[in-house]
Amino acid sequence: MDPDTSGLTQRLAEAGQSHLLQFWAQLGPKEQRRLIQDLQEMDFQEINGFFKKAMETSSSNSKHEKMDTRMEPVPRDVLGSVTRDRDNLKTWEAAGLDCISQNKVAALLLAGGQGTRLGVPYPKGMYDVRLPSHKTLFQIQAERILKLQQLAEQKNKIQCCIPWYIMTSGRTMESTKDFFSQHNYFGLEKNNVIFFQQGMLPAMDYNGKIILEGKGTLSMAPDGNGGLYRSLGNQGILDDMERRGIQLIHVYCVDNILVKVADPTFMGFCVQKGADCGAKVVEKTNPTEAVGVVCKVDGRYQVVEYSEITLGTAEKRSADGRLMFNAGNVANHFFSFSFLRDVVQKYEPQLEHHIAQKKIPYVDTRGRLITPEKPNGIKMEKFVFDIFQFAKTFVVFEVLREDEFSPLKNADTQNGKDTPTTARHALMSLHHRWVLNAGGHFIDENGRRVPAIPRAEAAGSVTDDGDRNLKDGTDLPIKCEISPLVSYGGEGLERLVNGCEFRPALMIDERGVHELVKNGV
Ligand code: UTP
Repeated sequence: MDPDTSGLTQRLAEAGQSHLLQFWAQLGPKEQRRLIQDLQEMDFQEINGFFKKAMETSSSNSKHEKMDTRMEPVPRDVLGSVTRDRDNLKTWEAAGLDCISQNKVAALLLAGGQGTRLGVPYPKGMYDVRLPSHKTLFQIQAERILKLQQLAEQKNKIQCCIPWYIMTSGRTMESTKDFFSQHNYFGLEKNNVIFFQQGMLPAMDYNGKIILEGKGTLSMAPDGNGGLYRSLGNQGILDDMERRGIQLIHVYCVDNILVKVADPTFMGFCVQKGADCGAKVVEKTNPTEAVGVVCKVDGRYQVVEYSEITLGTAEKRSADGRLMFNAGNVANHFFSFSFLRDVVQKYEPQLEHHIAQKKIPYVDTRGRLITPEKPNGIKMEKFVFDIFQFAKTFVVFEVLREDEFSPLKNADTQNGKDTPTTARHALMSLHHRWVLNAGGHFIDENGRRVPAIPRAEAAGSVTDDGDRNLKDGTDLPIKCEISPLVSYGGEGLERLVNGCEFRPALMIDERGVHELVKNGV
């Protein structure tokens, strides 16, 4: 195995990346083979081009004025809302279910991230946030799809299917596929769960040199959730969608435990508005919350990050007292198939990478692994929402945060944000409300009804040890879990709970309604 004979040495020299072979002589035959294979798959000129462009854009952005003067909020005529458009929700939902019945709807899961903040060595979708059922995020989402197919079938009396496209990365593909196969695809048809792989890019130092994380290994990371568009083309996914007659696609992130996969109301709203692209948002209520907002910039839709605007603009309020820029992006999108095809075929190459400065472990010239204390290089990523600018008819659908958005980002720490505990609590509290809405009640150990708005001591008595560690005064939810196989969005529960009193913990699944002994399971 010789890098010279394959022309690799020369290609590296031309691209200014010869240092990648500096430890060649110290590598064993297996490592040499792997390194050659990795390097041969890479287009160095393209990577250098990405680096140059991303650095130029980032430095010109940092010299620019903030976005403030160029921004406008989302106009009311493209905005739907679960609270302000109550009268239309049933019509939108019915339209969405009809599209599902006609096999026009697909769900597309973005699951290629590395989950570094959560810090587990397996894909985030396999995470168990310690619900009473111990279901993983993947299982919860799969069961929502199953239930939705069933609801559409009940409505229109024809069998249908929602194909589930799952984007993984080089690092998560094998384990994700194994997990699904071990769990029999959670009851879904194997052929309708389609895995595909996004691209990876090397981490680079500030001089554009690819970083080695071992003597024979490059530091590689997935190319961002906007890597979706390139992989849809080069992995044959668009063709698969076309073969199946898919016209509407719901794209979402793996880490939101409350996600309404292929939400028929959202789909129906977008279809009735004639949209080619749509975003679900939740209201941003705190001006300094680090969430991107959907708005118009120079007349085109875009997500503007908190860091790109001044505090003055972030704090601006409309006449109704709400923040003017309050459409908090939750990475939950609608695309028509034809829009997605145009993006993949025409617009994707126009998207530029964003750069994230990171502390990237590297080997020094003597081959020692160094873990830097401050950022020493960049990772390049595209974002899924970078394509809003190309939409001809863009719509926004505002939903309630407590009903639909609770992402799992970080490991558990006391009072931490977006942790397994907050995700678990969000789901149980939603299911608690579903029971109350369906006419059920909870009682405490003395047989007294637990008030609908939980008080710390009332709810505190029903939590498990992990939850009790939270500080006093926290509204701890009642332990209550409803299987997605029983209810997709709170429907169909009256016959099970109306007029009944339950002691927590309560579990409602396809076998019936159970009170779990001693908060156990
Ligand atoms: P995040 O940006 O939160 O990244 O991803 P992450 O990988 O989950 O976590 P950290 O930042 O490493 O801690 C938001 C969503 O986008 C997906 C993730 O899987 C998640 O669903 N994603 C992210 C991709 O699919 N590909 C990527 O390259 C990056």
